[in-house]
This record gives sequence, structure tokens and C-alpha cells, in this order.
Amino acid sequence: MNDSAPVLAIDGPSGAGKGTIARAAADWLGWHMLDSGAIYRAIGHASGAKDLDLSDAEAVARCAATTRIEFRDPGDGGDTRVIIDGEDATDAIRTETAGAAASAIAALPEVRKALVDKQLAFRRPPGLVADGRDMGTVIFPDAAFKVFLTASAAERAERRYKQLKAKGLDVTLASLLHEIELRDARDASRTVAPLRPAADAVVIDTTGQTIPTVVNRVLAVVQTA
Ligand code: C5P
Repeated sequence: MNDSAPVLAIDGPSGAGKGTIARAAADWLGWHMLDSGAIYRAIGHASGAKDLDLSDAEAVARCAATTRIEFRDPGDGGDTRVIIDGEDATDAIRTETAGAAASAIAALPEVRKALVDKQLAFRRPPGLVADGRDMGTVIFPDAAFKVFLTASAAERAERRYKQLKAKGLDVTLASLLHEIELRDARDASRTVAPLRPAADAVVIDTTGQTIPTVVNRVLAVVQTA
């Protein structure tokens, strides 16, 4: 960890385009990248694999503290691989079931606490682009650059639908919209680290905007600061 490395925090609800935008911004800036959602998904997945009761805060927090999560660049320009305790779980953590498990365990304060240091460790020179829900509010409150990405629920469901279909997964738009609305409500209403923009975040509504347009608006936050 290096407290002086600059951080660009990109927060927002699921499907707002954070992953794509954060990756593009990190590539452009030459900074490291933290996909904090993948960490919550990995712990949701690992807890499920161990047959833990997802509402058992102590058991899941223990799992969060002891599970090894590695992010590996495949080196061929493909997606970052997510390795959980030595096993490649990249595809497994992207299912809607894993997303729902992530959202459930993310509501447990003990689990969030157990994952703080894992996330802080990503802050290294020359800088970090941190993608999540509470990057600018809780994990990196001193981040120099903070963006909150939003989009309408209908557009976010449609984006997710296209992504999952492209991966050959069998999903319906209606069920995705329902899932997204449920997850938004849970993420926004939980008592610990609820989803909300930091007071000093630049809020960008990405509804109807192209990826390059949004990337440019995010990079402008870094460059004009
Ligand atoms: O961003 P992604 O959809 O991968 O995140 C999965 C879930 O993990 C979210 O719905 C949210 O409940 C949780 N999460 C969180 N805090 C973060 C990142 C993700 O609570 N910083």
C-alpha cells in the first residue's frame, strides 16, 4: 500500500458501466485497477461453495479473511482472471446467482470490515482506479478524484442482458431488471456503506451515452483537477 498514490474512485449501481469505464480509464492513465465487486462476488462464491449460511456474519467474515483472491492478467488482452484459493473462478463469479450472493454478504458489516485491508493493498504507484460502491465514501475517502456513474434501471438491465447473452448465458431481460431493482434497493438501504455518491463526487448519468464519451468525461475529472 502507498497512501500517496493517487486514487480515482468510480462508484455507482450495477450495470452503470463502471467496469468498462474503470478499465478504460486505468489503461489510459497506466494505473492499477481494483474491481471491488469481484472481491465481494468471490467471497459470495466461496461461501456458497463451503455451504455457509449467507446470513451467518461470523462464518462469512471468517471466509472473507481467509480466502485468497488473486487477479491475474492473462497477458493476451483478455479478461482479468479471478483466482480463488488457487482455482480459476472468473466465469463462476459473473453469474447472477453469484451477484445476488455478493449483494447479500456485502450487507454484513463484519464482512465489509474483513475486506478493507485487501482493498487498501491495491493502492500503489503510479495510481489506482477503484471500481465499486463505497470507494469514494469508505475505502478511499481521501481519493483525489471521485466519480459516481448512474444510468436508468432499464438501460442497465439491457446492458447486462447483452453482456450475459454474449457469454452464452440463458437470461431474460425482465428477470434481470427485477434483479437489478432488488439489488439497488438492498445496496442503497443497507446500514453499512449504503450506495450513495460521496459529497465531493462528480455524478455522471451514462443513460444514452457512448462508452468513449463517458470515458472522456471521467478522464476530464482527473485532468482538470
Ligand atoms: O459490481 P458488482 O456487480 O460486481 O458487485 C456485486 C455486489 O457486490 C454488489 O451488488 C454490491 O452488493 C457488492 N459490492 C459492495 N461494495 C463494493 C463492490 C460491490 O457492496 N465496493
